[in-house]
Amino acid sequence: MNTLALYPGSFDPITYGHLDILERAANLFQHVVVTVAVNKEKRGVFSGDERVALIKECLEGKEWAVNVEVDQFTGLLVNHAKKLRAKTLVRGVRQISDFEYEFRMALTNKRLAPEVDTIFLMPDEEFTFISASLVKEIAYWDGELRSFVPDNVAAALKKKFKK
Ligand code: PNS
Repeated sequence: MNTLALYPGSFDPITYGHLDILERAANLFQHVVVTVAVNKEKRGVFSGDERVALIKECLEGKEWAVNVEVDQFTGLLVNHAKKLRAKTLVRGVRQISDFEYEFRMALTNKRLAPEVDTIFLMPDEEFTFISASLVKEIAYWDGELRSFVPDNVAAALKKKFKK
């Protein structure tokens, strides 16, 4: 049995919704690697290294995160999964509208690597509307970020969007 799961995403930046999914995955699998997708053509607000650093800060001192590691990858997710010998990908589904995209992505990954399965986890209801893009818009307009992202992420966003 393979007990390693990969939790991939852009995480630009990580939100409380992502952390909720990650905690659930960490409770289900022996080992979880949160992996940040870095795409040079699709630059985010934060660099890959910055996103990794923010996630690591969020996990500091969290008892449930002792089996969690953070890394980054470029290229196809399934190739990264094969490299790490992970057989499971974890994705969060917040609402029905997420499902079409997730379903397409999971089927594509399955075609590319039939031995890798995607499992979907639901976050707590209170996080179902949070998205990194909304969080960036709030930060851009200098809104209150406290209920969407941890303090270190809020501070990093404020710094990025300082006018
Ligand atoms: O947080 P996101 O942006 O919804 O995550 C999407 C992500 C990064 C998991 C997905 O775009 C991805 O796996 N990108 C790497 C390239 C790849 O493998 N594409 C084929 C899968 S459709």
